Amino acid sequence: MGEESKPQAVGQDLRELAMRDAQGAVRLAVAFIGVSGGLFEQLNRLRVAGADDLAAAARRDAGYVRRWCDAAYAFELIDEADTGFRLTALGRAFLPDAPGTLMPFAVQDVLSAHMAERAAGLMRTGERPGEVVLAERESILPWFGPMLEAQFGPVFEKTIMPGLKVYEEAALRQGLAVDLGCGNGWYLVRLAARFPQLRCLGVDGFEENIRQAQARARELGFADRVHFRTGDIYSFENEEKADIIALNRALHHVWDEKAQVFSLLKRHLKPKGSAVIWEPHWPHDRHLLRQPTHRMMAFQNLTEHVQGNHFLMPVEIADAFSEVGLTPTIHSFLDGREAVVTGTLL
Ligand SMILES: C[S@@+](CC[C@H](N)C(=O)[O-])C[C@H]1O[C@@H](n2cnc3c(N)ncnc32)[C@H](O)[C@@H]1O
Repeated sequence: MGEESKPQAVGQDLRELAMRDAQGAVRLAVAFIGVSGGLFEQLNRLRVAGADDLAAAARRDAGYVRRWCDAAYAFELIDEADTGFRLTALGRAFLPDAPGTLMPFAVQDVLSAHMAERAAGLMRTGERPGEVVLAERESILPWFGPMLEAQFGPVFEKTIMPGLKVYEEAALRQGLAVDLGCGNGWYLVRLAARFPQLRCLGVDGFEENIRQAQARARELGFADRVHFRTGDIYSFENEEKADIIALNRALHHVWDEKAQVFSLLKRHLKPKGSAVIWEPHWPHDRHLLRQPTHRMMAFQNLTEHVQGNHFLMPVEIADAFSEVGLTPTIHSFLDGREAVVTGTLL
């Protein structure tokens, strides 16, 4: 064995780093169980409850909930109270409806573990099974929409919607906004709330997403002008042409067939209408991936590979618009981490 390949004893500083990382990951895993089992919500509602009462309120098995309470106590998500447990400030921060909720971190943590396990196995053969891998964990599936909404809804409302003119222009024309790969519909319901003149249509391939989106449109009283339907982006058809066609984190899913997708976008736009494509901005310079703000993107791109996808550079999207005769403009958000590329039919 050569000198340099002899394993060296691992130093205490590296051991402590790994222990902190491990505890952080497990804390999020415990939080995920609390989120997905409705345990944070029920304990918040009850204020103080023993494990058995919490289990009954959340309709979960008491044996599991007792063990969860020990783990959640150990990781400071809940505290002991006179007659049971109550949420700590950290536990309350995982309530899915809390403004700025930490819920996405918990969902992402467990999803990452699942995707890492799949990537490790698939690396042997190079097989890329596609999006089905995301659907393999039934407890994660219902949380995709809420996770993405909590991560990106506030950015859209505060920064992107006020930062781009296309939405207001479409509303002035009492136009139609289409969202292809709409997830749980969070983007369109925000647009509909801000612009009462807009009509909206969302399409997604996952039925669970469409079920959640339709329920939300009904609850908000938008059902007459905000519609959602299950369908494939590739075969999208609609009688009325659109003023806006949005794809949010969806283009990289269909990039392999980009010629088909971009000609479909052009075909479905009204004159002066715009396709509005929001994607993570994959950096040209690998050094940027070391930044804490970009790190997760690098891992996500590995999980995208499992799904048959990869993240894009905004200039690639702009070039694809130019190729079909749409005029591109690149907009940059969140310190260059997020890009919105518009392609307008002049
Ligand atoms: C990363 S998610 C983004 C969802 C949503 N736009 C958001 O920002 O929260 C990508 C979405 O694209 C949908 N999708 C991917 N390929 C699709 C296709 N060919 N037809 C319909 N939907 C598709 C997936 O079901 C998924 O909901």
